[in-house]
This record gives sequence, structure tokens and C-alpha cells, in this order.
Amino acid sequence: MCGIIGVASKKEQAIPMILQGLKTLEYRGYDSSGIAYFKENQIVITKTKGRISDLEQQINFKETSSLGIGHTRWATHGEANQVNAHPHQVGKITIVHNGIIENYQELKAKLQENGYSFLSSTDTEVACALLDFYYEKTNSVTQAIQAFIHEAKGSYAIGLLCQEEPDTLYAIKKDSPLIVAASNDTNFIASDIPAVLEYTSSYYVLEDEEYAILTKDHITFYDKGGKVLTKEEKHYDASLESPNKGSYPHYMIKEMMEQPDTIWKTMQPFLENGLASLAKLPDLTKYDRIDIVACGTAWHAGLVGKYFLEEYAAIPVDVCLASEYRYKRLFLSPKVLVIFISQSGETADTLAALKRVKEEACHTLGIINVKDSSIARVVDQVIYTKAGCEIAVASTKAFTAQVAILLLLALQAAYQKNLMEEKQVLAVIEEFKHLKDHLTPLLAKRSEYQKIAKELYKQEDIFYLGRGLDYDLMMEGALKLKEISYIPSVCYAAGELKHGTISLVQEETRVIASCTNPLLDPKTMSNLKETKARGAKIYLITNNVELTKDKDIDSVFLLDQTSEFLVPFLVIIPLQFLAYKIALLRQCDIDKPRNLAKAVTVE
Ligand code: AGP
Repeated sequence: MCGIIGVASKKEQAIPMILQGLKTLEYRGYDSSGIAYFKENQIVITKTKGRISDLEQQINFKETSSLGIGHTRWATHGEANQVNAHPHQVGKITIVHNGIIENYQELKAKLQENGYSFLSSTDTEVACALLDFYYEKTNSVTQAIQAFIHEAKGSYAIGLLCQEEPDTLYAIKKDSPLIVAASNDTNFIASDIPAVLEYTSSYYVLEDEEYAILTKDHITFYDKGGKVLTKEEKHYDASLESPNKGSYPHYMIKEMMEQPDTIWKTMQPFLENGLASLAKLPDLTKYDRIDIVACGTAWHAGLVGKYFLEEYAAIPVDVCLASEYRYKRLFLSPKVLVIFISQSGETADTLAALKRVKEEACHTLGIINVKDSSIARVVDQVIYTKAGCEIAVASTKAFTAQVAILLLLALQAAYQKNLMEEKQVLAVIEEFKHLKDHLTPLLAKRSEYQKIAKELYKQEDIFYLGRGLDYDLMMEGALKLKEISYIPSVCYAAGELKHGTISLVQEETRVIASCTNPLLDPKTMSNLKETKARGAKIYLITNNVELTKDKDIDSVFLLDQTSEFLVPFLVIIPLQFLAYKIALLRQCDIDKPRNLAKAVTVE
């Protein structure tokens, strides 16, 4: 969701550097882009709707510059068009902005009274005018920034140029990610570290209501009152990165194929020395109850976690959507643990829910993929998933890594509470160590997935059904399909079907289901037969050979028989593949699906 890059360099290479940074940020999702740079003490702005390649066509590459800013915009206020694209310029101030200025209407009215008029429908142009208003009053950018921080409500990461300071780049931050980075010859601001990894891995994190002043030689940090801050220089561990697609046509398939390794990397520190390693995990048995808070795929991982924590460790768990949790009445105490799950560590709703919980007397644990991200910095304790950089908007390897941590937490808590014997726990650990042997053949069944995808890709809708753990996994499968193929995919608990939704089932309706629980499978099977009786075609994922013999099932993905702890990793692979293959047949933009952003940094 919106990307920012800013460059203050000793070299006249700012334009290609900004464009390269914007390309790296493309995965965040955007619908327009723009660039502003100093050329002979004048600010040149180029912006357009569409892709970075559209922007490049409008740029005069004969020009050079050493200082500038760039932006990819994911529309919030006002449609995606050239006027609304960033950078915005008002008076002497030019900015790029991520986030939402919540009181922009009020500020706009005040600025209009003071003679400002507006060309775009954006809150960003209002932010820019506010900064210009205070700049004109004080003749000082830093004083304008301090006044802005005082007055603007909402979230912002801002890169700023002032017409009268051609050697200076400003950065301002609140509730939207922004880092400052330094290489030998160039200083940067960026929405995330991969945008500048080509040049440097050393960076500083801007905290809320802080700002920074960058020139080609210096970086200085300030708090909102103008006090100079000393910041710790951080170094990004790029060893987990997979910055290109390699031989794969899309990041999504590459990331799916990485899962045997990423799951293992995530689990390994807690498994290598058996029970002693497992004991390094936080002790969940201290708590009466757990709330898991997350969005989208991370929320689905939370549902899988709930199943195992309740079934095996007998700890009651609520799994809450962060966008609901941040506003609902909370029942928290020191006996409640709140777990926040996030790949990006920047999701606005999850971060806001976390900030709310931090005001209460209870412990917070993060399961986060991106190191030093905002959520990772705020939680009391963090466990990092080792999925590496996930570029495709549709999350795959981050999901299985999140599930991996939750399974280990459940296993450890079950052991501590004597609900699983040592030999049972060791047997599961042993199975985890051989997970790859089950996953590799599943990942290789590409022609099978392709065959089914061909039967499904023209459907107007697809049903996903399951019970218990299977239902949780089906929800994730259905999300993957709608995200990247745009086929409406409805997921239901199989037992709920008769209470309304079965009215949608008709001749040629396609139903995908999974049955991996011997206690629940007969129930789900009879629900499936009810759809069959109304003309549905059934695609079943199961580890139960007996079910494959049922003549009502049209197609089967047979999984290996394993402990239930391995089931989520096995069921999800055919679901990810079906979504991918169907999207491919529908010629969708798989890594950058329409309207979606990788990190949802606005509410
Ligand atoms: C997953 O495929 C989605 N793109 C989306 O639901 C995502 O999981 C959600 O936005 C949460 O993101 P996070 O894990 O970075 O917090």
C-alpha cells in the first residue's frame, strides 16, 4: 500500500535510484506513481496513473539530479488519476505521503479561509498546504513540520522537499512506516528496507511523531519538539531475502515452492534439541485465556492456532479481526495473553489494536515476519517467522510459517500441562523434521492441479466447505482464490449449509472440501452428498483412503496419513495451487491483484 522513496546523493543518480526503489515497492500495491526532483534549483514533478513503466515513459532521462522523492499511490481519497497522484505541490512545499489525514476536511476549510485552493480530492494536498501555510508563517521547514505534527490527526509517512532548500530532504512519520538509510554516497528514506537494499543494509527506524533532515552528507533526527535524537543504526539481515523470481514466472509460485524450507527455518530453533528447544517458547500455561488478533490470512493462521491450542493444550482462545477488536469492548487482565500475528508487521488495524491493548495490564506476543517492523517493536515479546521476504500480495509461505509457530506453542503448552506425554511430543517433533518428505511430492503434483484448474477456471462462483480445522483451512483457500482469480468463493462450515446457503447450490456448482478428521468426516461427507443431490461437482482433499472410494466424489487429492499437527501444511498446498493455476488460466495479474496492497497501512 503506497510506497515512498527519497534520495539525497553525492552522485547525480537520484532519478534512476528513485525509479529502482519504486519498482521494488511495486509489490505493496498501487495504481499511480510519481517523482519529484531538483534540477538546477527547481523542482520537476512527473506523475501518472498506471504502472512505473508508464511513469518512465514520461521522464526525461537526459536530466540528472542528486535529490528527489518518489511515490506509488494506492488510492484512498479520490480516484486513481494523474491529479490525485503524488507528489503534491502547494506553494514552496512538495510532498509524497502514505497514510490518511483524518481531520483533512477541517484543515481544508481552515486553509481555504486563508486563501488556499485545491486541485485534487486528496488529503495529501491538504497536508502539503498545511505545511506550506506554516512555512510561509515561520520561514522554517522544521517549525512547519512541528506545527504539522501538532495539528494533523491520522497517519502519515511523508517525504518533503522545499523549493528554497535544494540540498535537503525531510521525512516525517506517524503510524505509517518509514525508515532512513545510509550508504557511502547516498542517504535515503523509504517505506521499507528492501527498497534500498541494493545500495545499503544499514538503516534507522523513525518512530511516531519524529522527523529527520537528510542531506547527501548528514542525517539528523528530531522529536516533535525539535530536540535532536540519537538513533541506533540497524543492519538488515538480507540472508533470508529472495529478491528475484529466479526461474519462476511469479513470486507467488516461487514463495509456495519455498514452503518446505521456510516452515523448517521457522521451526528449527525450537526443535533442534528436542524438548529443551521447545521450552524456549513463551509459557502459555500462565494464562486463563488467549486473544489472537490479526487480519486476512494471518487471521486464518490464528484460527488454525486456536484449534490446536484448544484441542491439545485446553487453553480457550478467541480469534479476532483486528479491525473489530480495536473498537470492541475488551475483557483483558494479566491472565489474558494477546497474540498479534502479521507478516508485514505494519498492518494499520493490527497495530492500532495492539496500541490499545498496550494501555491495559496484559502481556502481548507478536508472531511477525518482518524484523523490526512497527508491530514487532511495540509487542512485549516477539517470535519471528522465518518466511523471508514475501513479495506476492497473496500470502502463502508467511501463512504456513505463522501456523508453524502456533503449532509449536500448542505442542509445548500441551506438554507442560501433561495433556501430551513426552513420547507423543517427541513423535510430533520427529514428524515435523520429516515434513519436507510429505510436502515435496505434493508440490510436484502440478499437472493434477492444472487438470482441476481447467475444470474450474470459468466458474462464476466456487464453494469451499469443511468442519473444524478443515473449515479454517478452507477459509484460507477461498481467500486465496478470490484474491487472485476474482472468482467469488464462498466458504462455509459444512454444517451451516442447510441453514441458508444451500439455496445457492445448483446443477454444475463446484464444491471444494477437505476431510481430515475421522470424527467429523462422516458429517462433512453427508453435507457434501446433499450438494451432490442438487447437482454439485465435488473436489475433495483428504487423508482418508476410504473416502476416495465414494462414487459421489468427482475428484480427490489424497494426502499422506500424518499426525494432525502436519495436516494444515498438507491441506493448504492443493488450495494454494488451485488458486494459482485458476488465476493463471484467467490471465490475472497474480502477484499484483487488482485493488489489493501487500501491506495495508491505512484503516
Ligand atoms: C493475504 O493473502 C492477504 N494479502 C491479506 O489478507 C493479509 O494477510 C492481511 O492484509 C494481513 O497482513 P499482515 O499479515 O501483513 O498483517
